[in-house]
Amino acid sequence: MRVLTGLQPSGDLHIGNYFGAIKQMIEAQNENEMFMFIANYHAMTSSQDGEKLKQNSLKAAAAFLSLGIDPNKSVFWLQSDVKEIVELYWILSQFTPMGLLERAHSYKDKIAKGLNASHGLFSYPVLMAADILLFNTQIVPVGKDQIQHVEIARDIALKVNNEWGEIFTLPQAKVNEEVAVVVGTDGAKMSKSYQNTIDIFATEKILKKQISSIVTNSTALEEPKDWQNCNVFKIAKLFLNESEQKALQDRYEKGGEGYGHFKMYLNELISTYFNDAKKEYERLLSNPHEIDDVLQMGAKKAKEQAQKTMQKIYDKIGL
Ligand code: AMP
Ligand code: TRP
Repeated sequence: MRVLTGLQPSGDLHIGNYFGAIKQMIEAQNENEMFMFIANYHAMTSSQDGEKLKQNSLKAAAAFLSLGIDPNKSVFWLQSDVKEIVELYWILSQFTPMGLLERAHSYKDKIAKGLNASHGLFSYPVLMAADILLFNTQIVPVGKDQIQHVEIARDIALKVNNEWGEIFTLPQAKVNEEVAVVVGTDGAKMSKSYQNTIDIFATEKILKKQISSIVTNSTALEEPKDWQNCNVFKIAKLFLNESEQKALQDRYEKGGEGYGHFKMYLNELISTYFNDAKKEYERLLSNPHEIDDVLQMGAKKAKEQAQKTMQKIYDKIGL
């Protein structure tokens, strides 16, 4: 299957992103033809600070590479290195009824949150459709908030195919329903906007601070503790196999240990799990040329596919 996903270069990744999306992406590389890119054009809709966007794109690339995106298995590039995307975006715009975009929830939500109602933000789904359709994508793995965008891409593809014949593959959104929501330090869904995250690439000091802020109840140290409703346990579980989980449950039920002990254990689990990725992340960020080289290699492969698609269209549109 041809699977494509765009990754927003928006700040620090947390363990909710990892267990909710990134881990599946890394695993999927073995069975699918994965196309993954850092969506820096899309990021421009929320900030036009060039230096920040450059830094965030570099950091995002380093993060995904160090967590296991393998540029030899997957095509991995920086969106703006394949300019055909913007060209296709303009052509697709001619096939996009205003009403289709006016119904987009994501646009309405962003306006409600105070973002400027710019044309860029409004036409964001057409750019996303170009990303998807340029590469003959079959499957787009997405969070629930992005399903509508994939449907818009499909609608646009149908319109073009109706007019010009079978140019585009019809994409399908795939929501991973099995993935459980990862809770944050306050017990609500872990999310940057709630400031309750535990960040993958946090320094030791910040990691410690984030873990110590996990909300627990006030059961006394010597008392048995309720692991089922404990936020520390819920997060630790993500890193444990069945017998390790059982061992931790026993420690809770036995009493004699406080939440501080369990938080220390969680700190060890997280540090160990991401230790190699963290070292690789730091290494890559101190060798940005290496990141550029990898992204250029990906862009070259992506461009080949993009040009094939564009060749089919140039004639039709008179270019
Ligand atoms: P976001 O940056 O919030 O759009 O999240 C990017 C991806 O990470 C989405 O596909 C979500 O499915 C996943 N994700 C984010 N937060 C969580 C969470 N707390 N639990 C599980 N998955 C999450
Ligand atoms: N809009 C997506 C998000 O906010 C990112 C994205 C851009 C994307 N282009 C894409 C996702 C193409 C899937 C396919 O997360």
